[in-house]
Amino acid sequence: MSVVQFEAVDRIFRSGGAEVGALVGVNLQAERGELVVVMGASGSGKTTLLSIAGGLDRADRGRVTVLGEELGRLSERQLARMRLTAVGFVFQELNLLAELTLEENVALPLEGAGTGRHAARSAARAALARVGLDGMGRRFPDEISGGQQQRVAIARAVVGDRRLVLADEPTGSLDSETGVEIMKLLRTLCDNGATVLLSTHNPANAEFADRVVHLRDGRLERIEERAAPAGREAAR
Ligand SMILES: Nc1ncnc2c1ncn2[C@@H]1O[C@H](COP(=O)(O)OP(=O)(O)OP(=O)(O)O)[C@@H](O)[C@H]1O
Ligand SMILES: [Mg+2]
Repeated sequence: MSVVQFEAVDRIFRSGGAEVGALVGVNLQAERGELVVVMGASGSGKTTLLSIAGGLDRADRGRVTVLGEELGRLSERQLARMRLTAVGFVFQELNLLAELTLEENVALPLEGAGTGRHAARSAARAALARVGLDGMGRRFPDEISGGQQQRVAIARAVVGDRRLVLADEPTGSLDSETGVEIMKLLRTLCDNGATVLLSTHNPANAEFADRVVHLRDGRLERIEERAAPAGREAAR
């Protein structure tokens, strides 16, 4: 079973009299353990694709299946539940709550899904350890670097049992060295069973992908398969 599957997906925006095909006839799939990178110029449909995969927006035509659920059949409430329990988001702009500790930030989706505070905090500490921030849970976002903040956002995206991470230009506001560290971390998470769908303008990030999808004006122009992505763990 694919973790994410798009079949002939269209998303059309209408503004005034004009129609914009943000996605047109898109077919795509991502399997467990895969890092799929979506590239394309500004306005090519990257954010639209990730939003639909995460149930934040809906396709106008075609079928989207995530972890065995056909999203078109789910209610808004069921989609919201899926976002709390199965799918994590990471954005370009750091999106941590400044008044909460790192541990509290990471625990938020679990607490939102009804996990008790103690269990949520303990899962948050485990997720922070997975992203290399063991023991830093008591700090606040403004006490760590931008790259570390992005690690926290990734910890929040994978906390608990979430298996799909949707990352919209997660390295866009980082320097290139820190960006590489973040890509290596995402690669490792995939090598341990997560699935990541990531948009980027930066060709260097595509080196870490199993598959690179090129969008142009909402259409899937080309797919590159990579047998040996950069950063893949040797023991696999
Ligand atoms: N809510 C909306 N209403 C109307 N048009 C929209 C809306 N969201 C996106 N679009 C249009 O859909 C197209 C795809 O937008 P999208 O944001 O997915 O592109 P993108 O590849 O993420 O661009 P960028 O690299 O600038 O982030 C663009 O033409 C955009 O103007
Ligand atoms: Mg975008």
